[in-house]
Amino acid sequence: MDSKTKTADKTATATLRATADVNRIEAPVTIKAYFMCAFAAFGGIFFGYDSGYINGVLAMNYVIAQFTGLPESAKADKGLWMIPAGQQSLIVSILSAGTFIGALFAGDLADRMGRKITIISSCGLFLAGVAMQIAAENFKLLTAGRAIAGLGVGGVSCTIILYMSEIAPRKIRGALVASYQFCITLGLLAASVACYLTQNRNDSGSYRIPIGLQGVWAIILAVGLMFFPESPRYHVMHGNIDKAKQCLAKLRGQEVDSPFIQEELAEIVANHEHETNLMPSTTYLSSWANCFKGGIRKSNSNLRRTILGTSLQMMQQWTGVNFVFYFGTTFFTNLGTIQDPFLISMVTTLVNVCSTPISFWTVERYGRRALLIWGALGMVVCQFIVAIIGTATQGGPAETKVMIAFICIYIFFFASTWGPGAWVVIGEIFPISIRSRGVALSTASNWLWNCIIALITPCLVGKDRANLGAKVFWIWGSLCFGCFLYSYFLVFETKGLSLEQVDQMMEETNPRHSKNWKPTTTFASQMGMTGDKASDPTTGNGENMSDEDASRKASGSQV
Ligand code: BGC
Repeated sequence: MDSKTKTADKTATATLRATADVNRIEAPVTIKAYFMCAFAAFGGIFFGYDSGYINGVLAMNYVIAQFTGLPESAKADKGLWMIPAGQQSLIVSILSAGTFIGALFAGDLADRMGRKITIISSCGLFLAGVAMQIAAENFKLLTAGRAIAGLGVGGVSCTIILYMSEIAPRKIRGALVASYQFCITLGLLAASVACYLTQNRNDSGSYRIPIGLQGVWAIILAVGLMFFPESPRYHVMHGNIDKAKQCLAKLRGQEVDSPFIQEELAEIVANHEHETNLMPSTTYLSSWANCFKGGIRKSNSNLRRTILGTSLQMMQQWTGVNFVFYFGTTFFTNLGTIQDPFLISMVTTLVNVCSTPISFWTVERYGRRALLIWGALGMVVCQFIVAIIGTATQGGPAETKVMIAFICIYIFFFASTWGPGAWVVIGEIFPISIRSRGVALSTASNWLWNCIIALITPCLVGKDRANLGAKVFWIWGSLCFGCFLYSYFLVFETKGLSLEQVDQMMEETNPRHSKNWKPTTTFASQMGMTGDKASDPTTGNGENMSDEDASRKASGSQV
């Protein structure tokens, strides 16, 4: 930034109208603005589709013949007619490796170039990977294409959460981020349907069509985002107050000079100044090091938040959900008495899609903590029931049906609680100074554990390995009990607060009391930006209070 622009932005900050009224720190939002925020959720489709299509593709006859060079006559031998296990493992896990690295780098890029550009360039990278996979006629190019596409998916999956959490109005931020999870589930479903429809083709369309379809999602997202404003919080980080004001005005559907826009922006600026005073970052390395500062004992330290975000995503993977999505078909086949295991897998995918929208409402009505606590309990009960039946019986047709029913109920609990909940929380717990990196580390943790679980699960259930069968649910059930304890003791309630208020709340209270915390002051007034506007009757003293603020206010005292 040149010195002229710097001076202009200092002036812009100085002339911002700030508020001391905790109920006015966010501008009202128009319907169009709500739709703008919701569009970004589309990025979830990549995530789901990419994780979902590869199993279907690798099982296709045309693909097996093309990539192994086996003659048609080998088809009869089921043990031989397959992509070798080592290659399967490599191609499935290379995506997670790519996404892990992509997510880590995306955090940096999002701070340097902006959230929007990072998402658009990740889509570009993803498209390059898709083109390589479409062109692939051998295993090497297919694997390389998937690794490159993985970098793009990692970039999108991390930056979308960051972007959505930063632009969404606080009252529906949870619901909007939950719609990202809904798109993940749609992606998974679209992948199974695409593979189902092309699996019997006897030409390269069998794999090129489902692979190419992913490109369409990337183009829609990238082109759509070009018309969207950047996150105002990104501009504030770079001291571009005027640009931040314009973006915020577009996002809220208000005039640039509206007092609401000024007050919301003043709060973001004040919070940023507060954070920078606490933890200035001078070099590239020190900005990464900031994620691990503040000590383990302090509930709001950066280190604690980084551990919370990364471990929450780890716990989400520990619920065992991808056991059902990645290995469901094999598991159901091994149960023995099932006619069409593929159909049962489709049913679990459908339950996943249909249950997720419930969270749009519950995440705002009951909050993040309640969702995670009750969701974990629901999963524990279902998984232990499956484990008990699998251990105590021989698994006849009736028992198998009951097990499948409880696996579906378990997916219902995951999809309506931990699926969306983990993404919502990681978008909200980091202060602006480390938000992009915190979200990046947390997303990378999701992909890392996704990969680890994909690699170890076959050893747990493989007929030639531990062969646990339905007993594997003792492990998932116990891990879900861990998720219950984890959410009860460690997850803060962030519902209805602005990202800046979340910051304040984590400073002043602990997870178990966080639900009753209510804001009493704004960052703008703490930073001395409000003058005597606190007493300005137009800023209101509760008259403009939202239901959310009123209920927080009514429900208890600050701890
Ligand atoms: C998880 C994925 C999972 C998906 C299922 C996501 O939130 O991170 O690993 O496959 O939900 O819907």
